[in-house]
Amino acid sequence: MSHGNESKPSSEIDERARELELNGEQFRSLVEQTLNYLSPYLDSVGEQPAIAGPVLERRQREMTSLYPSCFPSLGQPADFLLQSLFGSMIHEGYNPSSPGYLAFIPGGGIPESSVADLIANIVNRYLGLRRAAPQLAAIDDTVLDWFCQMVGYGPGSGGYLSPGGSIANMTAIITARHHQLGEHGHLGTIYTSEQTHHSITKAALHVGIPRGQIRLLPVDDFCRLNHQAAEAMMEADRAQGLKPFLLVSHAGTTNTGAIDRMDDGRKLADIQSLWWHVDAAYGGFFLLTDRGRQRLQGIHDADSITVDPHKGLFLPYGTGCLLVKDLVRLRAACSLRGDYMPRQAGESSERFDACDLSPEQTRDFRGLRIWLPMMLHGVDVFRANLDEKLDLAQHVYQTLIDWQSQGEPWWVSPNPELTVVAFRLSPSNTTSEDLDTMNRELLEEVHQDGSILLSPTILHGALTVRLCVLCFRTHQSHVDKALELIHQAARKVLQRHAKSISN
Ligand SMILES: Cc1ncc(COP(=O)(O)O)c(C=O)c1O
Repeated sequence: MSHGNESKPSSEIDERARELELNGEQFRSLVEQTLNYLSPYLDSVGEQPAIAGPVLERRQREMTSLYPSCFPSLGQPADFLLQSLFGSMIHEGYNPSSPGYLAFIPGGGIPESSVADLIANIVNRYLGLRRAAPQLAAIDDTVLDWFCQMVGYGPGSGGYLSPGGSIANMTAIITARHHQLGEHGHLGTIYTSEQTHHSITKAALHVGIPRGQIRLLPVDDFCRLNHQAAEAMMEADRAQGLKPFLLVSHAGTTNTGAIDRMDDGRKLADIQSLWWHVDAAYGGFFLLTDRGRQRLQGIHDADSITVDPHKGLFLPYGTGCLLVKDLVRLRAACSLRGDYMPRQAGESSERFDACDLSPEQTRDFRGLRIWLPMMLHGVDVFRANLDEKLDLAQHVYQTLIDWQSQGEPWWVSPNPELTVVAFRLSPSNTTSEDLDTMNRELLEEVHQDGSILLSPTILHGALTVRLCVLCFRTHQSHVDKALELIHQAARKVLQRHAKSISN
């Protein structure tokens, strides 16, 4: 019987189709070819710039053969593709693996996790159902148990290894709404500080909470949520017939690393009968250190917590995590199966299937990228790294304060509890527009040689520079280089604007 493709003999079609079935030797050859690029890359990453600029950009645009406008009909040699990737494409733009990357929230991307990814992708097991890969699911469980223990959760807790902090936050909102309001969530309101990460607002909007029911509340001088203002708003909302159901606190805001008062968070959530979620995407893994544990005291009382291994555990991008104090609640909110996904008699009532614990169905083997590096090194290596970063942030803060006390016009955010320092040039008698211009220029000057990348934000209405130390490759010399560049840049900018400042 004919099914089309009459022009091609079936043997030729089969041969093409089988090209995807690499044998062990072909795979080894491809990996070895790749390693020929990856090994020198890794050896040089400690000296690589944090930002690479327009020269490479121009070259990239010329390489149109690498960006075909439709599916390529023929394959290209691996070496050509690898050469192109490592020649310029990879080097273009921001480089979060570089020790000079002090922008946004870095992590660095420990290489051990990429080996885990290689294994996970080749064995390609389905982790949605426990019975599909029982011992591998036990690795995911083990990692989640470590995290639960770290935040101080007890029996009955558990979590979901997500693709990042945003999806973890979204799953927390879904769970909180389901638990607090069931299917009658349309009047539900959520409360958090104006310093929240936008993933909270975005997730709330995505799950159908109207913008008018998302309250971004004022903060104190330390950028921590003002709980009194939050409570007053909850009361006012109740009077309007709305249904407050969720308070989101922060264990490390993105702007300044501020930590909301954990004890007040729990108290307010109890008084108002709310779900209390803590976004610890940035700050969570500092719980591995003594200082972190002290500063995040009380976090174990949260109903759910987001942590982000691709930040504080230095993993390559792609792994976040939602922890819940009572796993049954997460399952109640997320479990829904099609007829083609029957439950099996005798399924464990203690350990649920991953597909019932998140919005995802098909799940890769995510735990391995955490388990392998942790098992290879032990937790002390990670703890030592986090402690070093806390010290480095203190050093940055102290240097800026020293400059300030020598009469230089710096505004500096309060003594950092984690590893972000926010600051700006702030000479008196200068308009807010001029101040923003000066600080934009400060950043441009610092970024000139590409070795250091900082990032801007808006804080208290003014353009402010953020420096965040969290890449595992960042050490004292890199932070000192950043400080030197900031100091030089400030002198230039102040000189350039000397006239407008003195007027
Ligand atoms: C405090 C905070 N929450 C949530 C997120 C979102 O996490 P992700 O980028 O992994 O989705 C971030 C990211 O920087 C963050 O800093």
